[in-house]
Amino acid sequence: METGHQKATGDSKAKQEDAKAGGAADTELAEAIMSRRFHPSVIGPETWEGYVFSDLEIRIKESTDLYGAILWPSAMVLCHFLETNRDAFSLAEKNVIELGAGTGLVTIVSSMLGAKVTSTDLPDVLGNLQYNVTRNTKNRCKYIPLVTELIWGQQVPQRFPRATHRFDYILAADVVYGHPHLDELMDTFDYLCQDHTQILWAMRFRLDPENSFVDRFRQRFHLEELYDLPSLSIKLYRAWRRAGDRTADPAEL
Ligand SMILES: C[S@@+](CC[C@H](N)C(=O)[O-])C[C@H]1O[C@@H](n2cnc3c(N)ncnc32)[C@H](O)[C@@H]1O
Repeated sequence: METGHQKATGDSKAKQEDAKAGGAADTELAEAIMSRRFHPSVIGPETWEGYVFSDLEIRIKESTDLYGAILWPSAMVLCHFLETNRDAFSLAEKNVIELGAGTGLVTIVSSMLGAKVTSTDLPDVLGNLQYNVTRNTKNRCKYIPLVTELIWGQQVPQRFPRATHRFDYILAADVVYGHPHLDELMDTFDYLCQDHTQILWAMRFRLDPENSFVDRFRQRFHLEELYDLPSLSIKLYRAWRRAGDRTADPAEL
């Protein structure tokens, strides 16, 4: 008969095995995601990084003086998910908004998957964002993304009235970090997310207190973890709103 000690040892071994398997899965997935990135073989006057989507090359121009101007791993994580789950989470013909689009990779991949994308960020970032979006979506996508300003918490209802701006998906990659506008970001998610909307959000974990954002987010939205990638310190979440008694998953509506 198994003693308590033997059972505890067995349980902890099983946990270690699970952790090892989880670690291997994490490393494998993280490697698959990061292997999509490539760099120019010849250094030219323009600094850019590449990302492979299906068999297509996406070139992202960087302007490293701004936060939005680097190809961040979270964006690659979200793009990988969208590409490899295109049946379960089809973006074709869907209305999509991206918050804090930065250099535009997620916007570009979403457009290549057939979405009608509104790509948003701070005014200073829009020039480079527009350049990357135009360069990579022209003659490749059914719908050319709309690049436009959205400063979290500022004039959002006026600029995006709910009656005319109904988004099926809100996409966000690495928008939570030590900036002073986390409350405004939360309010922006809250305003844009209607009953049928799904949020796909890649979160890079750095230091507290911004990580407590996830706990506060959970109070307003149902949160499902899609990827956990400790080696990249990134989790990918799907969320939808908690509204009154409604608990239905919008994917099933
Ligand atoms: C770390 S970057 C991530 C960029 C992009 N999503 C990616 O993963 O490559 C954060 C983005 O949030 C944007 N951002 C920061 N504060 C913002 C605000 N108050 N309103 C709108 N966008 C903001 C930045 O301009 C930047 O593009």
